[in-house]
Amino acid sequence: MADEEIRAEIERLRQETGALILAHNYQRPEVQDLAEYVGDSLGLARQAAATGAEVIIFCGVHFMAETANILCPDKITVLPEPEAGCPLADTITAAGLRALKAEHPGAVVVTYVNSSAEVKAESDYCCTSGNAVSVVNSIDAPEIIFAPDRNLGRYVADLTGKRLILWDGCCPIHERISAEQIRALKKAHPAAPVVVHPECRKEVVELADAVASTSGIFEYAARSEAEELIVGTELGMYHRLKKLNPGKEFLFPSANTLCPNMKLITLPKVLRALQTLEPRVVVSADMREKALAAVDRMVAIG
Ligand code: 13P
Repeated sequence: MADEEIRAEIERLRQETGALILAHNYQRPEVQDLAEYVGDSLGLARQAAATGAEVIIFCGVHFMAETANILCPDKITVLPEPEAGCPLADTITAAGLRALKAEHPGAVVVTYVNSSAEVKAESDYCCTSGNAVSVVNSIDAPEIIFAPDRNLGRYVADLTGKRLILWDGCCPIHERISAEQIRALKKAHPAAPVVVHPECRKEVVELADAVASTSGIFEYAARSEAEELIVGTELGMYHRLKKLNPGKEFLFPSANTLCPNMKLITLPKVLRALQTLEPRVVVSADMREKALAAVDRMVAIG
């Protein structure tokens, strides 16, 4: 089937089923273009919670679809590629977090949304890159555990002035971005401001004019009067940055900041998902009950 036919069939089935298609900012351009809403983890979770649609086709990675299912268990959540995981989320298990909690009894646990439902179920608060600072600022406790992204945790600790006990995980894609690459781009484009994702390493964040979630990077780009911007995050962002800001140029530190998991979802897989309403992501009622308070707090704060 040619892409045009696939798109037409997706459109027909979308109307027939009333499904809502959501896509993360790192998805393939052709997948972003057919979604009703494209956004960051927080925006996607809020869209999932607010929709009246009975079916959500979630074009993102597994933890994002799980979060949607925790928020709205009565809706059918379909992840077009079940193998689309997140190596950062895989750095922590519920048992690992329980062991860290045992070392710090009484600590409040803040877990980044890039984690499994089991890990969220062990947490007091969930957060995304879009509201991590607000979430931590809202907590008055002598000890706070922040898991699993050490880079985001350190950034939040610096901004809030709170001492956080960090899990030693990171996103391998953001970890690849080096200060040297950013310095080289700044040298070649001295007028270009630098905006980076908080999953980047400390020395990269220190070179940035702004640090923001993926949707925050779009807001920064729209506001900026610069003609060129240096962007430290996953390359999938280029498509809509250019589409929404045709007069500006976006410079990425390297061609290897591609998240292979995000790229697993393709047009034929979205079509199959709409035809079969499979594969579904279902969080068990027991797990959901334990994780819901933390996820509800994430959606409410910031
Ligand atoms: P955002 O919530 O900023 O979109 O980040 C999601 C993510 O997984 C970044 O690697």
